[in-house]
Amino acid sequence: MSSLFRKKSINQLIQQSNQKTLKRSLSALDLTLLGVGAIIGTGIFVLTGVVAAESAGPALIISFILSGIACGLAAFCYAEFASSVPVSGSVYTYSYATLGEIFAFLIGWDLMLEYLLATSAVATGWSAYFQALLAGFGIHLPALLTSAPGSGTGGIVNLPAIIIIFLITALLSRGIKESSRVNNIMVFIKLAVIIIFIVTGVFYVKPENWTPFAPFGFEGIITGAATVFFAYLGFDAVATAAEEVKRPQRDVPIGIISSLAICTILYIAVSFILTGMVPYTQLNVADPVAFALQFVGQNSLAGIISVGAITGITTVLLVIMYAQVRVSFAMSRDGLLPKKLSNIHPTFKTPFQNTWMTGFIAAIIAGFIDLTTLANLVNIGTLAAFTAVSLAVIVLRKSHPHLKRAFKVPFVPILPAISALLCIYLMTSLPLITWIAFVIWIGIGLIIYFGYAKHHSNLGK
Ligand code: ALA
Repeated sequence: MSSLFRKKSINQLIQQSNQKTLKRSLSALDLTLLGVGAIIGTGIFVLTGVVAAESAGPALIISFILSGIACGLAAFCYAEFASSVPVSGSVYTYSYATLGEIFAFLIGWDLMLEYLLATSAVATGWSAYFQALLAGFGIHLPALLTSAPGSGTGGIVNLPAIIIIFLITALLSRGIKESSRVNNIMVFIKLAVIIIFIVTGVFYVKPENWTPFAPFGFEGIITGAATVFFAYLGFDAVATAAEEVKRPQRDVPIGIISSLAICTILYIAVSFILTGMVPYTQLNVADPVAFALQFVGQNSLAGIISVGAITGITTVLLVIMYAQVRVSFAMSRDGLLPKKLSNIHPTFKTPFQNTWMTGFIAAIIAGFIDLTTLANLVNIGTLAAFTAVSLAVIVLRKSHPHLKRAFKVPFVPILPAISALLCIYLMTSLPLITWIAFVIWIGIGLIIYFGYAKHHSNLGK
């Protein structure tokens, strides 16, 4: 029994990370931009449309605020961890040090669900804007090849989504990690198109579009919140860069919290204007932000938005897929997953096999499953991880009261407890099918843990 809860020592983790020679070059500003780069993508550019049309109506803005609060609370908890255990591997590593091996395994397994499916989901959004852009030039790809089956558009496979994943895989497997300078440029483009949308759109707002404000009631708002939650994901990626930060204890919390704050403000503004420009019933499209501009006759601006969205979503893809490979790499290095996953390519010095395997699976999923289904699955996985981080903060305060923490969550245990409860509440409003898939995934995880990981764990040897 006790082996299930064996823990890594925090002091050892910190020592290990100090010995490693990753260059510490990132500042708080770099981290904030890294966060914004990882956050703004398919969620705001694509999901807002169906959520407005089918769940929240113009009350979309309330969904965004609620979801933003849940993420903000979880971000505080992430920040405390990142400021006291600034090692890579994020929640997986944090829980290995606090909650014990079985939880670490399950959380890592759960993060893989999050990042793997998020890669597929984000690629689906990329595909939507890519098609919108082509359509602007009068090029229409055959419907059969542009969406997953069952999405009502007559598609059998989402080919553009598959292709972009393979391109990203090829880049990552050769070790082309986005430099922070390239990231900063991409973020600038992304922010620019969002601001263009806000300042142009505001002139086309018709307040009558906001009535009825909540056509699907409170339930619709909560379901909407649980879906748009997807739009906020990515701030946790900031924590994974902890080992490359100049002053991690101070800068990682700043990076996490400020990137989330910036995105929350932008999302609220975008949803306010989007639902003011177009009656919510018409927003059920794959490229709502560009569509709204076409709707008011701003066709060339719509084209610019599409280019910006494509660029922006590409950076999200890079970061998320990178995170997926990192988590499975870390788990494999600890002996919890097969060693193959942490093999390093002799020339490229990257986890080449792991990257291609990830890319291959993500591509298949992106080709055949629609965005909303994927996003809900990603959300349930992430909400579970956020719940774990929130609880782990309380545990860490008890188990390591004297650990140096540059950032402390205020009002422990109340605030982390509220954070956990809010995440669980949002989880409960996700569809049954999402829950079934989630339970199956965790079940498979338990089988792998007891059938493999427990006996191969390095900590056990
Ligand atoms: N937040 C990221 C996006 O919306 C996952 O694309």
